[in-house]
Amino acid sequence: MIFTVAIDGPAAAGKGTISRAVAERFGFAHLDTGALYRAVGAKGGDPVAAARNLVPADLARDDLRTLEAGQAASRVAVIPEVRAALLEFQRRFARREGGAVLDGRDIATVICPDAEVKLYVTASAEIRAHRRWLEVGGDPAQVLAEVRERDARDMGRADAPLRAAEDAVVIDTSDLSVDAAVALATAAVARRLGDRPG
Ligand code: C5P
Repeated sequence: MIFTVAIDGPAAAGKGTISRAVAERFGFAHLDTGALYRAVGAKGGDPVAAARNLVPADLARDDLRTLEAGQAASRVAVIPEVRAALLEFQRRFARREGGAVLDGRDIATVICPDAEVKLYVTASAEIRAHRRWLEVGGDPAQVLAEVRERDARDMGRADAPLRAAEDAVVIDTSDLSVDAAVALATAAVARRLGDRPG
C-alpha cells in the first residue's frame, strides 16, 4: 500500500510527537525532514555540496537538536539548490511501500501535494517557545526570540515557504494535551484509510 501522511508546521508545535505516534499506530515509516536540513547546516562548508552528499551518519549526529542547529538549518533551507538536492529522497520515501509519515515545512505544499492526508500542526509562538525552553533550557526570552526569528525566516522565504496547504486539516496544539492532539491526527488518517477502495 502506498499512503502518505504529510505533516507541516512551525518549530516546536508538536509535529515530531504526532508524526511518531501516527507512524507507530499505523505501522508507517517516519521521516523527520527537519533532520535533513539540520544535518546540512551542521556539516558546515558549502551547503549545496553538503546537501548533495548527505549520508546516513550525518543524520545520526548528536548535536542536531540544539537551538543553534535549528537556526543553521533554517539558514541553509532558504537556498533553492539545497532544497532541490533533498527533494527526490523525500519523494521516494513518501511513496515507499507500506505507508509513510513525513514531517517538515513544505511536505503538503511542495514535496507531496498529492499526499492522502495533510495535517498542519501549529501553536502560539509563546507556547512553542515554552516547550522548546523545557527541552533546551537557557534564557526564556532568548528562546522566544529564536522561535520568532525562525518562524519569520521559514514563512518569509521565497522558495517553499511554510504555510498550510489549502486542504490540510489544521491542528492547533496550544490548548491540547499530547494525547488529544495525537487522537485528532490519528482520526484524520483512519478516516482517509477507511475511504480507500478495497
Ligand atoms: O523541524 P525542524 O525544527 O527540525 O526544522 C529545522 C529547520 O529546517 C526549519 O526551521 C526549516 O527552516 C527547515 N526545514 C525546511 N523544510 C522542511 C523541514 C525543515 O525548510 N521540510
